Amino acid sequence: MDYTTLGRTGLEVSVAGLGCGGFSRLGLGTGKHEDHAIGIIHAALDLGVNLFDTAAAYGTEAVLGRALRTVPRDRVVICTKAPFGVSNPNSTAASAVASLDRSLKELGTDYIDVYQLHGIAPTAYDHALNELAPALLREKEKGKFRHLGISETAPHDPEHRMVTRACRDGVWEVAMVGFHMMHQNARQNVFPLTRQYRVGTLLMFAVRNIFSQPGRLQRTMRELAAAALVPQALADSPDPLGFLVHEGGASSVIDAAYRFVRHEPGVDVVLFGAGDHEHLKTNIGSLLKPRLPESDRGKLAELFGYLVGVGLDAPHLSRAGRVVNR
Ligand SMILES: NC(=O)c1ccc[n+]([C@@H]2O[C@H](COP(=O)([O-])OP(=O)(O)OC[C@H]3O[C@@H](n4cnc5c(N)ncnc54)[C@H](OP(=O)(O)O)[C@@H]3O)[C@@H](O)[C@H]2O)c1
Repeated sequence: MDYTTLGRTGLEVSVAGLGCGGFSRLGLGTGKHEDHAIGIIHAALDLGVNLFDTAAAYGTEAVLGRALRTVPRDRVVICTKAPFGVSNPNSTAASAVASLDRSLKELGTDYIDVYQLHGIAPTAYDHALNELAPALLREKEKGKFRHLGISETAPHDPEHRMVTRACRDGVWEVAMVGFHMMHQNARQNVFPLTRQYRVGTLLMFAVRNIFSQPGRLQRTMRELAAAALVPQALADSPDPLGFLVHEGGASSVIDAAYRFVRHEPGVDVVLFGAGDHEHLKTNIGSLLKPRLPESDRGKLAELFGYLVGVGLDAPHLSRAGRVVNR
């Protein structure tokens, strides 16, 4: 495993972080048993993962707590999030504190390393900054958590408007940001700021559904080509990103997806969901491989660098991107 420093938190974290939410939820999302989820967490630990990201909304705090019970507390970095109700502009500071206390209990720990507000929309940001953060920081003083973080709501804020404000406010030490091969605008909008203000970054959406669900990529390419946003040849291809897979390049599109985000300057930790032991191993393997060849990175930038908001949706929705900077 490779390790890095998570911004100004100073935490030494694995570059691969196990996401306990998303569509996998450690396999619980596809009907697997809790023992299986615990096995996934233990396998990740064995492979050197020390950062785990969960949330009240995922229903995996308790299973994560159980899996980590036998691990010395200072060996792991536990990140969790307030429930979505707290992200609402009408929520109260008291409900944020109550959620924090519930998360501590669910996780069975005395402190959380990174406590995050979950999916904060630009319209909810003032409330988060002025009402919720001060109350939570008082709880931080009591030792309930170490660092305050914030995650964006990628499908509803594809331009990262919330995070670009949050970086400058000095309160948030960690930001969770969406970025992938066909949604690259954090390179211009976010990472220069996170690096300037030393905000640690947790990367989400590296693979999500667009690169993991059969047929999703082809469907998206057809929608994008119909809107004249990508060349028609990509829509006509049964394997539109097949050009990334070659000797000296990626071994699969998913391998390419993880390597693409991992080596982006400004990315600290790549969160990956895995409900399957084979996925866990291959994903960590990908995250530890070198960056993609320059020619492939250049092609991805040329073909998709101007798309915004592609592939961030839930599986049943269809949301093609749109053009900026062109
Ligand atoms: N706003 C937020 O705060 C927010 C939003 C989204 C995500 N997150 C965080 O980010 C983490 C990652 O989420 P994500 O959306 O990027 O990923 P994800 O939803 O966990 O998606 C990964 C998907 O790809 C599949 N997959 C993984 N590795 C694969 C492989 N090697 N081959 C084929 N399929 C594979 C997984 O299936 P299997 O289950 O079969 O492995 C899963 O369905 C979440 O767990 C969560 O911690 C946060």
